[in-house]
Amino acid sequence: MTVESVKSEASAGEAPELREPPLAGGGVPGLGHGLKLVRDPLAFMSRLRDHGDVVRLKLGPKTVYAVTTPELTGALALNPNFKIDGPLWESLEGLVGKEGVATANGPRHRRQRRTIQPAFRLDAIPAYGPIMEEEAHGLTERWQPGETIDCTSESFRVAVRIAARCLLRGASMDEHAERLCVALATVFRGMYRRMVVPLGPLYNLPLPPNRKFNRALADLHLLVDEIVAERRASGQKPDDLLTALLEAKDENGEPIGEQEIHDQVVAILTPGSETVASTIMWLLQVLAEHPEHADKVCAEVASVTGGGRPVAFGDVRKLTHTNNVVVEAMRLRPAVWILTRRAVTDTELGGYRIPAGADIIYSPYAIQRDPKSYEGNLEFDPDRWLPERATDVPKYAMNPFSVGNRKCPSDHFSMAQLTLVTAAVATKYRFEQVSGSNDTTRVGITLRPHRLLLRPVPR
Ligand code: HEM
Repeated sequence: MTVESVKSEASAGEAPELREPPLAGGGVPGLGHGLKLVRDPLAFMSRLRDHGDVVRLKLGPKTVYAVTTPELTGALALNPNFKIDGPLWESLEGLVGKEGVATANGPRHRRQRRTIQPAFRLDAIPAYGPIMEEEAHGLTERWQPGETIDCTSESFRVAVRIAARCLLRGASMDEHAERLCVALATVFRGMYRRMVVPLGPLYNLPLPPNRKFNRALADLHLLVDEIVAERRASGQKPDDLLTALLEAKDENGEPIGEQEIHDQVVAILTPGSETVASTIMWLLQVLAEHPEHADKVCAEVASVTGGGRPVAFGDVRKLTHTNNVVVEAMRLRPAVWILTRRAVTDTELGGYRIPAGADIIYSPYAIQRDPKSYEGNLEFDPDRWLPERATDVPKYAMNPFSVGNRKCPSDHFSMAQLTLVTAAVATKYRFEQVSGSNDTTRVGITLRPHRLLLRPVPR
């Protein structure tokens, strides 16, 4: 399906009478809905469905449109009248660069997608298998029975290492991956703060947290420059994403500029590590909270491997229950919990008028927990993804990687590593939360547990 081939229902045929979306209730004079959105964003976004399919929100003086049904989130993502833009993306651009695929639009975006796509194609993933296996088993070997695992740093570490080692292969990538972990963890914390509390010049004051953030951001950019320079100096051209970027040509057939190469590497590493890391944290939480599913994963791995060898990349497609555990964890705790678009022209959505320049938001978290789409919507039930039951789920009610031209290029890559990591850790250990652990949801750029601390108990 192409983006151009899909139009939201009401835009087909004769021009319908367009309505103004209703204003969501509960706004405070002068402040609108901003305070509620900042205080409890997940509950706020989930309640919007009670006010309409498309609703208007007031964020200070600004009107923002929220989409609350699966069908209309699909229509939004697939409609070329909406592009990537808005406050979320503007803050991202300022921090991680303007020329990467995640923030580009139009012909540049299409060209950039063509460059990176081959590295993520289904048939490219098996080449990453040995690294994914090494990292998944390496994780279980780092952990000692009885010790306390800090799941935040461990999940981050494995996610960054897999992305960096698979996509930017290089001799000293181990050391780079470690430095990337440290830099990215600090950058993400600071980025979210700057997005939700836009204090502008105050972030330039030489205060310790600002200095720490600036140092981490500078180190991230320096590291990316080092990775690119080392690859060039090596004269090697392995078949990987970095080679594809270094050899890419622009619309005029000229090599793309240094800044674009740099921003592309950043634009791939940053979404690639935070999302996977947060999902791994939730998977570890699920294994601790639902030992019956952890046991079932373990039994499934044994039935596939025969019990005599560690789980391998080649087993992943046979691990259907493990895969369903991953999908169900992503349904209830989607790493990407909010998405935004901007209308490029006066347009419509679900019969509602959307003016040019309007910002539109929607929450995969709210959509994936909607009781209208899911029976037992808040229950962790991996079996709802069995083929005979999965057909009950409405279209676009489960799209953690989004759809359309901005769909995550890494869906196969991510699912393979998440399934393999889950299988590897669940086979070796049972997990218990220890005192001091806090698995309530922390809302940031992604959703993750506040501070998940687990004790691994050997099986
Ligand atoms: C875009 C989710 C892992 C690279 C996206 C989008 C979503 C998403 C929802 C679309 C954003 C939008 O529609 O506005 C996820 C989830 C992941 C994951 C849930 C794992 C659990 C990764 C990884 C990489 C990656 C591992 C790279 C190594 C990207 C890039 C884009 C993107 C480059 C921008 C695509 C574009 O704008 O054309 N991701 N992602 N993601 N993701 Fe992922």
